[in-house]
Amino acid sequence: MINMKDIIAEALSEAIELSYDDVQTLLTQPPQPNMGDIAFPCFQLAKKIRKAPVLIAGELNDKLNLRLTDSADPFSRAVERIEAVGAYLNFFLRRDTFAEEVLRASIAAGDRPGASDEGKGKTIIVEYSSPNIAKPFHVGHGFSTFLGEAIANLYEYAGYNVQRFNHLGDYGTQFGKLIVAWRRWGDVEALNKAPIQELTRIYIKFHDEAKIEPELEDEARRAFTRLEQGSEEEMKLWQTFREVSLEEFDDTYDRVNIHFDNMNGESFYAKMTPEVVTLLSEKGLLIESEGAQVVDLEDYGLNPCLILKNDGSTIYATRDIAAVLYRDRIWNFHRNIYVVGIPQINHFNQIFAVMEKLGMPDPERNVHVAFGTVRFADGVFSTRKGNIVLLDELLDAGVAHARAIVEESHPDLDDAEIEEISERIGVGAVRYTYLASGRERDILFSWEDILDYEGDTAPYLLYTVTRCASLLRKADSAVLKRLEKHSDEDAALLIGDDEQKVLKEIVQFPESLSAARKHYEPSMMIRRLMQLARAFNTFYHSTPILRVDDTALSAARLALAQAVERTLKAGLRIAGIEPVDRM
Ligand code: ARG
Repeated sequence: MINMKDIIAEALSEAIELSYDDVQTLLTQPPQPNMGDIAFPCFQLAKKIRKAPVLIAGELNDKLNLRLTDSADPFSRAVERIEAVGAYLNFFLRRDTFAEEVLRASIAAGDRPGASDEGKGKTIIVEYSSPNIAKPFHVGHGFSTFLGEAIANLYEYAGYNVQRFNHLGDYGTQFGKLIVAWRRWGDVEALNKAPIQELTRIYIKFHDEAKIEPELEDEARRAFTRLEQGSEEEMKLWQTFREVSLEEFDDTYDRVNIHFDNMNGESFYAKMTPEVVTLLSEKGLLIESEGAQVVDLEDYGLNPCLILKNDGSTIYATRDIAAVLYRDRIWNFHRNIYVVGIPQINHFNQIFAVMEKLGMPDPERNVHVAFGTVRFADGVFSTRKGNIVLLDELLDAGVAHARAIVEESHPDLDDAEIEEISERIGVGAVRYTYLASGRERDILFSWEDILDYEGDTAPYLLYTVTRCASLLRKADSAVLKRLEKHSDEDAALLIGDDEQKVLKEIVQFPESLSAARKHYEPSMMIRRLMQLARAFNTFYHSTPILRVDDTALSAARLALAQAVERTLKAGLRIAGIEPVDRM
């Protein structure tokens, strides 16, 4: 734990024949608190010096215990006592020193606990959201949107140069159909009012009509070919569809405060597909299969990757290959991360395999971060006929449910305030739900669960933040003054069980960030935030903070609350959830 672990490692490496680094890697955290805070297993050492591990543990115990008698020894400032249990040496940290260190580190880190410059000079592309033009922005895209933003934030927080990409689905044969449908049934007024709704309407109509009048399909193919060749009339329509759709998407992005650095969609990369074809054939990777051109991926245990269809047109995969090549050339990325659902695992495996064959051999650089599906508890969207739920509808419903709760608990607030708080709580609760479980698991929305102020929810975390903030508001001036002049002496008073549990959670926040980054799994950070909030609330209920006579003790406990507030706020912001002052 911070310095204290280093001091123990140093003492051990002085006492035995192991380097400091070797000792560090061996040190572990005991499974139970009654076994100490840090443990050193002696098995490795036993092999080296040919002595029974239990014997070694006993000898080391005697040797190090001697150091504890010297109060000037930094080792005795860090360690309270040592116990040899079997082959293990268990160290119990000094609670006062631990409290001093944690609070000192928390204050030094300020608003950004756990931030680092690990990623300095490295570019990370995070591609997420990626809705399709003229199609509904549904709750599945919501998953990619919120998960992707949290991953981007996690990397940014560690000093990486993050580029947020939105790979818009703005290309493909469906646009031929849309053009034909528009000419026949399009309604300008409806398009201006609710663009995607109108485009969806005519698209569905196209399919219905094409069942009766199959020639429509040929007409659509011809329209798409003209579009591909850059014919002015078709281009203009396509551009309109794209623009009006983007305007609608932008409303959603503004609402959730997510903004992209790069909106190059599939159409952008479609222009580069001839280069892909040339490159693949130069390397001898293109083979013919039933009139189409494919890359064989049998050595990867994958189906062949289709590059050119038998009519010579390219597909989704071809455009993705073009995109990787382009991104590599322009950004020389350290990682190129795709936040796309589980159904596309095979697609990305194919793309990455083709990239390797093309000589981008570092398989680590391209990453597919997959996620599960969204489901709804009975009755959540019962009035709907189809099974597509728009992200905006989900957010609106979350806010409406939050509003009912806020209105009830705050009859004193005016309408604008209620609206703002409800929006933050409702949207926050939805975002939290997308991030809180392992991303490959399906999520189930139920309003009772995600808005439960006592549950594992955003409201619970937000509420804990407001509790910390209100303590700081209510403290009297003598205590606040003492808090400002933070001293180790005061911090050293935080030796109670519940106080120590909170400190232990604070210490682990930075580790949860690196774990979350490494596994592209924001849930690892969220879980830590939740444990921290639980530990804080236990402390809050068991321990007086403002109502203690001792100013020093009150200031120390308040400093702890402040450290909790800073940590929770930082984590919530990384998750994309904006804290509120009151709720
Ligand atoms: N537009 C696609 C969809 O809605 C997702 C795009 C994923 N990104 C990619 N580079 N293929 O399913």
